[in-house]
Amino acid sequence: MEQFDRSHLLDIFRHATRLRHLPRSAQRKRLPGQILATVFYEPSTRTRLSFESAMVRLGGAVLSVENANESSSATKGESIEDTARMLQGYADVIAMRHPEPGMPERASRVVDVPVINAGDGAREHPTQALLDLYTIQHELGQIDDLHIAIVGDLKYGRAPRSLAMLLRETRGTQVTFLAPPTVPVGADITSALTEAGVSFREASSFDAIAGADVIYQTRIQRERFADQASYEKSRGYYVIDQTVMDGLKRESIVLHPLPRVDEIDPAIDEDPRAAYFRQAENGVYVRMALLDELLG
Ligand code: NCD
Repeated sequence: MEQFDRSHLLDIFRHATRLRHLPRSAQRKRLPGQILATVFYEPSTRTRLSFESAMVRLGGAVLSVENANESSSATKGESIEDTARMLQGYADVIAMRHPEPGMPERASRVVDVPVINAGDGAREHPTQALLDLYTIQHELGQIDDLHIAIVGDLKYGRAPRSLAMLLRETRGTQVTFLAPPTVPVGADITSALTEAGVSFREASSFDAIAGADVIYQTRIQRERFADQASYEKSRGYYVIDQTVMDGLKRESIVLHPLPRVDEIDPAIDEDPRAAYFRQAENGVYVRMALLDELLG
């Protein structure tokens, strides 16, 4: 998240919108012959497929290792460095997801091709944060002077952590964190916000976010808990249903990086404020902008 300052962000967003509105035939002329390798050591649907869709739309090609944890040479004990060195002979850019924090960065140190972090454990998910903020701009017409509520698993959730970090580049933002007591926002995030002068508070009920412009709901990250019992203690706390929606502003939006489990009632999907499927589509345009910036 440290790599993106405000002007770079705004550039990426402008570029994403430009690419989104190009005819397919013109999109395809951007990166013909270039190759993206998606190497995912953790499950994914949206992130991997939207990276791949982005590359294909730009006229490039894709090599994909889906369950790299089971199907790649990692199972034989190959180091991430060796895997990366080999991949750079096959592809012009690598998008990597790994359960261990810092692995994509380690890979990037030994290769000359760009490595994009597609999620590293409970640490960061930068391209998700970019598409989240892009969605806010696209839906509300601004990224500044907003009240943004970040809800759910703020301890293990790399998506909400990354979004909070990115909000340092916005102005006049007010953040409210709403997390079950077992998975509160980390001190690394709150001190980064304090240092950047972003105003935030921690709340313990939906009442505190009734006036929010953006409600960013997230999944409790079951796979990061030591055992099922501690997971059970954290789930079902803050569920967005019709009653919660009735308490929100009419011009607000509800976002979620997806997948959702039980933290948003599907009954509200038809509410125009439920923007999470539009948000998922935006992932393609933002990733097109990133790939085009790196390779174009
Ligand atoms: C998120 C992730 O993988 O961190 N999903 C995604 O990329 N859209 C959120 C999650 O898994 O809860």
